[in-house]
Amino acid sequence: MSKVTLNTLNAYKKTGEKFAVLTAYDSTFANVVSKAGVEAILVGDSLGMTLQGNDSTLPVTMTDMIYHTQCVAKGNHNALILADLPFMSYATPEQTMTNCAKLMQAGANVVKLEGGAWLEQSIAMLNERGIPSCVHLGLTPQAVNKFGGYKVQGRDQASSDAMLNDALILEKAGASMILLECVPTELAQRITQAVNVPVIGIGAGASTDAQVLVLQDMLNIPEGKKARFVKNYMAQANDIAGAISSYVEEVKNGTFPGPEHCFES
Ligand code: KIV
Repeated sequence: MSKVTLNTLNAYKKTGEKFAVLTAYDSTFANVVSKAGVEAILVGDSLGMTLQGNDSTLPVTMTDMIYHTQCVAKGNHNALILADLPFMSYATPEQTMTNCAKLMQAGANVVKLEGGAWLEQSIAMLNERGIPSCVHLGLTPQAVNKFGGYKVQGRDQASSDAMLNDALILEKAGASMILLECVPTELAQRITQAVNVPVIGIGAGASTDAQVLVLQDMLNIPEGKKARFVKNYMAQANDIAGAISSYVEEVKNGTFPGPEHCFES
């Protein structure tokens, strides 16, 4: 596979070809994941839980994200690298610019921010200055305290209309991608059809243009119960590379996610 760029993913959106995304936080896994065929790697602030052992992403800092983005960039083969802005590192447009510049210099190709229409000015500023962004909507884990837990979002008419409206506003402001987490399948389908930029889903049904999972979750590390939207790919593989390859294959042929991984309104 040649180097994946936003152009590659935009072309997939037009032709309907699905693409696969996984998290990675270090150079060795970035290498394994990218060589197994994922189109994009997410250096997620989920590292606050998977690597650091916290019960939320809130303690993650810019220093952490810069370090892990640098590590991933060194091991990456040909995947596009998305990197998360951590909690409270993008509270104002100016702070957003400063911190996004640091992530881009660490090796990110796209920065990811959690939030809704309030990000409009920041997204427009990033776009004007040549920094592509991915807006994370739905269950935004940095707002877990506001939601009162990791709960499905957009289940009623008003909140689903508001999420669709946020997506349209942020696409117009210049967002290059949208990520939907834990939203009903029908809403994810409405949003995916309404916007022209690629939509990545996690717990958002099979209609989105792409899927993402946390690497440790799909490898069943640590062993045990996971969220509904996770599939244990180690159950059908002999090794990690095999598990990742079968994830990529199932995303591309549309067999993952199945109905058992999805949420209804
Ligand atoms: O931080 C992360 O890994 C994420 C995914 C759960 C989408 O944002």
